[in-house]
Amino acid sequence: MNRRYRKTIIAGNWKMHKTPSETRQLIDELKPLISKAKWCEVVLCVPYVDIPIALRALKDSPRIAVGAQNMHHEESGAYTGDVSAAMLKDLGVKYVIIGHSERRAYYHETDTLVSRKVHLALRAGLRPIVCVGETLEQRDQGVTLDLITVQVKAALSGVPVEKLRQIVFAYEPIWAIGTGRTATVEQAGEVGASIRATIRKMYGARAARSVTIQYGGSMTASNAHDLLAQLDVDGGLVGGASLKASSFAAIVQAANQ
Ligand code: PGA
Repeated sequence: MNRRYRKTIIAGNWKMHKTPSETRQLIDELKPLISKAKWCEVVLCVPYVDIPIALRALKDSPRIAVGAQNMHHEESGAYTGDVSAAMLKDLGVKYVIIGHSERRAYYHETDTLVSRKVHLALRAGLRPIVCVGETLEQRDQGVTLDLITVQVKAALSGVPVEKLRQIVFAYEPIWAIGTGRTATVEQAGEVGASIRATIRKMYGARAARSVTIQYGGSMTASNAHDLLAQLDVDGGLVGGASLKASSFAAIVQAANQ
């Protein structure tokens, strides 16, 4: 990470875990443990139904923001069961995960759809956390950097330079998500640097320096410190380890050192 130019952001991705009452409980446990975290922004990306209770529980903690895990790619309309960017914004949500590999895999979300969502999120005033990453097969074929360049370019297509800082990228190798198998610090650092190089080519060095690039995929208290020591790893998108106050707080602490 490089705090001089960009924010360190640790985001928890709760996925489909925690009921509203469990949300209250987890946040109450978490708050005192991370109250001293001055150097990084903390985000809790919770299920839609947990958003109101999370916002209420965090009213007195301005440094902990609430995020959603998805949003629809149209502004509004006949999309039964879906949630729009404007709805999230109106509630008080600040971040939204876009293009998580689980959504790409199970709901067939393409780079084109990701791009539409990025535009809508920005227009609504939400900060997109755009997930990119390769499968194990793609890594073995040696196409990781090429593939991620395509994903990054697609997500940024048509995004003006003044909006760039609003976007957070999360490098999440699919083979590392929920598997206990973390990328090596070299792998995380290499892909982070490559994402920044792509942004630099599109927007110039100054703009590229300001973008937060997270790593995600089995990040834990024990590997967070080394991963975050990489210049182009400016935070984490944390799944499993964000579901317990103690393990998530330990990662936030690692980001504060
Ligand atoms: P994990 O999930 O930390 O459980 O691997 C990360 C993610 O999917 O965002």
